[in-house]
Amino acid sequence: MTAAERAREWLSSAKSIAVLTGAGISAESGIPTFRDQWGRSPDRPPLWNQFRPEDLATPQAFARDPKFVWEWYDWRRSLIAKAEPNAGHLALAELERRKPNFTLITQNVDGLHDRAGSTHVLKVHGDIWTLRCTLCSHERHDPRPSLPELPPKCNCGAIERPGVVWFGENLPPEIWAQAEQAAEAAGVFLVVGTSALVYPAAGLVHLAKASGAKVVEVNPAETPVSGMVDFSWRAAAAEALPQLL
Ligand code: APR
Repeated sequence: MTAAERAREWLSSAKSIAVLTGAGISAESGIPTFRDQWGRSPDRPPLWNQFRPEDLATPQAFARDPKFVWEWYDWRRSLIAKAEPNAGHLALAELERRKPNFTLITQNVDGLHDRAGSTHVLKVHGDIWTLRCTLCSHERHDPRPSLPELPPKCNCGAIERPGVVWFGENLPPEIWAQAEQAAEAAGVFLVVGTSALVYPAAGLVHLAKASGAKVVEVNPAETPVSGMVDFSWRAAAAEALPQLL
């Protein structure tokens, strides 16, 4: 039985399906990942290659130099604005249309799942297109690929931050609760394009497994959860996910 046949068989009999995606599903849309060799792509300015996300995506880094952190996000926003959802994103949107009780949980902040047509995306790490005021917490959606001034300013005069979850910050509680519920209820749990290094998101894989789900990993490389999943499909998301339909 091929990988695709096995995964399709499990999906066809699953009462509910949950999917956790990471940066790897957007790699084929030209968006560098964070920490694997794909992340060291030549189109990533050397400036960012010398920094780890743990150095930039933190409240401390932002407090120290909001303009510098914003320059990284502004570069990512401009890159994402030029990117298109790929066959992996589109396949998950189609799977949602075909399957009731389908929940998509993403660590990605790029918004490509929404642009691919997924309708109920649990963004556990926030959204790069949302800006939140550091003083009055007012949130707004700003789709402009490069902002006129960095850091951007709220109408109240204070600076705004990216509406994303930084290291050391809590995930949005209501979204996280829905993600946990989906992982617990899943008959099949797909974990796609994540290094499974960052918690609590990576913990959803363990939760799904402990709750009796069949867990399928889609990743060209081995990860810390590869040993515990029911099947580790060594393939790119854009190649594997369309075969699930
Ligand atoms: N298809 C599927 N997986 C891929 C592909 C691809 N085409 N290309 C790369 N990958 C895999 C890599 O093998 C790696 O395991 O995607 C994973 C990317 O890992 P990371 O760069 O660590 O991204 P992610 O797991 O999403 O990071 C988690 O860390 O920086 C924080 O908040 C940020 O949400 C992010 C979190």
